[in-house]
Amino acid sequence: MSYLFAILFYVSLGIFAVGLALKIRQYWNTPAPLKIPTTPAPTTQAGVVFRMFREVVFFESLFRAAKWTWIFGWMFHLGLALAFVRHLRYVVSSDAFVWPLINNWLVQFAGQYASLMMLVGLLGLLGRRILVDRVRYISAPSDYLMLILIIIITVSGIMMSFVAPIDIVGLKAFMTGLMVLDWQELPSSVFLIIHLGLVAVLAIIFPFSKLLHAPGVFFSPTRNQVDNPREKRHISDWAKNSGLDSADGV
Ligand code: HEM
Repeated sequence: MSYLFAILFYVSLGIFAVGLALKIRQYWNTPAPLKIPTTPAPTTQAGVVFRMFREVVFFESLFRAAKWTWIFGWMFHLGLALAFVRHLRYVVSSDAFVWPLINNWLVQFAGQYASLMMLVGLLGLLGRRILVDRVRYISAPSDYLMLILIIIITVSGIMMSFVAPIDIVGLKAFMTGLMVLDWQELPSSVFLIIHLGLVAVLAIIFPFSKLLHAPGVFFSPTRNQVDNPREKRHISDWAKNSGLDSADGV
């Protein structure tokens, strides 16, 4: 089982890293031929950075559009961020200078209880898809499956955290061993098997799924463009290279 999971980790991480890099390259190279920032929009580059910060941290446009989706979405993502920081203790060496920043009471407590907030957020998002007619109408099977996958990962994590503790030292040995090709035994726990198995599935489908909204938000022209079409003519790289940027305004 330990070998199986070791191989699964390498394969899933490889697909995740390569798939994500290719997607980001594709987003990077996709031309944005028109000036389409959603107004009111910043008129300077610094303003765009500030707008993007508010979008990524506070989900500003979602807040304006749909309050319930915003509340549940934000609960889930904030919980995920806090749980992520708590998870770092499984891979960061206790000699590292950042160790005290991770392995302290506040970060560990916040990460542990954030998992409950995460679950409430996820159940709210699932409830929205099932109960709101107009959202159910546009929901594809993958929308439900993605939520259910993350819910099972969260619940199995909560079980290990609050109900059936596992050998954390053994898990850390397994995780750090993977990084130096020194394979160690995986602690035995059915919840851990479910948790890690589904995390691998999540990593594999990530580059092909709607979860790409995470890197994708940074490439959205409605969010990342400066509102200055009157001051500066907008010509996409694609048009520059094709000679279509002549003065007659083709
Ligand atoms: C290789 C990756 C991962 C490993 C090794 C791992 C391992 C663990 C372990 C051992 C626990 C129990 C913590 C404890 O007993 O104190 C846990 C909890 C948890 N995991 Fe993971 N996990 C991984 C990835 C993820 C991912 C990708 C998510 C979310 C999508 C996630 C969500 C959670 C949650 C919500 C909890 C409960 C809160 C907590 O104790 O931190 N895990 N995880």
